Amino acid sequence: MRELEIKKSRRRFLRFLAASPVLTTPFFESGLLTRLFAAQDAPPGSAQGKLADTARGNGVIAKAEQALDVMDFEPAARKALPPAHFGYLATGVDDDGTVRANREGFAKFQIRPRRLVDVEKVDMSVRLFGTAWDTPIVLSPVSSLKAFHPEGEVAVANAARTKGHLQMLSTVGTSSVEEVTAARSAPIWQQLYPTNDWNVTRAILRRAEHAGCPVVALTVDLQEDSNRETLYRSRRVDDRDCSNCHASGWRGYFERKPMFDGLDVSKVTALHLSSMNWDFVKRVKDATTMKLVIKGIVTREDAQLAVEHGADGIIVSNHGGRAEETLRSTIECLPEVLEGAGRRIPVLVDGGFRRGTDIFKALALGANAICIGRPYAWGLAAFGQPGVETVLEILRRELLAIMRQAGTPSVGAITPAFVVDHSK
Ligand code: FNR
Repeated sequence: MRELEIKKSRRRFLRFLAASPVLTTPFFESGLLTRLFAAQDAPPGSAQGKLADTARGNGVIAKAEQALDVMDFEPAARKALPPAHFGYLATGVDDDGTVRANREGFAKFQIRPRRLVDVEKVDMSVRLFGTAWDTPIVLSPVSSLKAFHPEGEVAVANAARTKGHLQMLSTVGTSSVEEVTAARSAPIWQQLYPTNDWNVTRAILRRAEHAGCPVVALTVDLQEDSNRETLYRSRRVDDRDCSNCHASGWRGYFERKPMFDGLDVSKVTALHLSSMNWDFVKRVKDATTMKLVIKGIVTREDAQLAVEHGADGIIVSNHGGRAEETLRSTIECLPEVLEGAGRRIPVLVDGGFRRGTDIFKALALGANAICIGRPYAWGLAAFGQPGVETVLEILRRELLAIMRQAGTPSVGAITPAFVVDHSK
């Protein structure tokens, strides 16, 4: 019965998408569906008919190993999820223009490969705060992963363990830092949303320290709830009864967020702190033994201030285009942030990374590592742990390929000489 309801909602969702301007945006980042819907009335058996089958979901990958690239997981996630959950994962803000910009930004940078370099052995490893990682590919914090798969953050941790990746856990994840650290069998980084109650913030910091997190990533790009229209529209076409999982009010919200278990949340009226400023950064820094990384910096000025206020690292991020509609990609923000940070602290970057060549470009510009959000959530939604593992494998394979092709046997060898910004 529930399955039938989901199917009906999904059909309505697809009709809504077919009629909606979001289809001309990278809402479906692969761009696949736009073409597929165009083929819907084609005769069965024809090439167009086969495409139409795919539009109905018949041609979407059925197993993780069928994926050719990480974008193949997006339609598979759409197929697996109820409309409102997929809408939550896909949404940007306003017209989703910054989600689109994050992808388009990579096209501004071209690669300058060198020839006749021995690349038989390629070393992708990087060091972050004294720890060596096999690859520069990190898992960004994504909230509520159990909305995408029942095993949620733990399945992601299992995949991060088997493939050797660094994982960040959202404050509003659906698993605790202890569970995820145990599944990862190694320290993870804790992301922090400061609520308006400092006692709650301090308790979360303590808990992450006790769980062995070496780093806390303070997200500074949400000062209020952002306007996520694609999410709101997707909810309208999802007519399931959601009250079982989404009990109303703050109390109901925190009941689904294990990082708040046992805390007095009666004074919490906001997850995002509109009054957050540089003094607050210092306050967090002074209150913890963990390294403090600031997530959400996109300008030279703020990178300088971050260093001046004692930040140990920066993540260049626009929250995957979910914070505000700047229409500016993070890969274009990266050079000025690196300038502001002046090589004094590590700089990571996320937003729209879908290809090994995207990663290569960021490393060439000077990033110490890159992070992904939606791609691993698509893999999780579609196939659980194996889906996340395959997403990571594909990105590593593609990075290896471009490192070989460009003649760069190590991450250190990927210098600015390997990219050109042709828009200049
Ligand atoms: C996020 N992101 C995010 N960031 C954060 O600091 N705390 C969080 O809880 C979340 N939650 C979250 C949920 C979902 C569904 C998405 C898609 C994203 C942002 C995330 O960490 C990262 O910055 C972006 O996802 C990177 O962009 P891509 O890879 O999704 O394009």
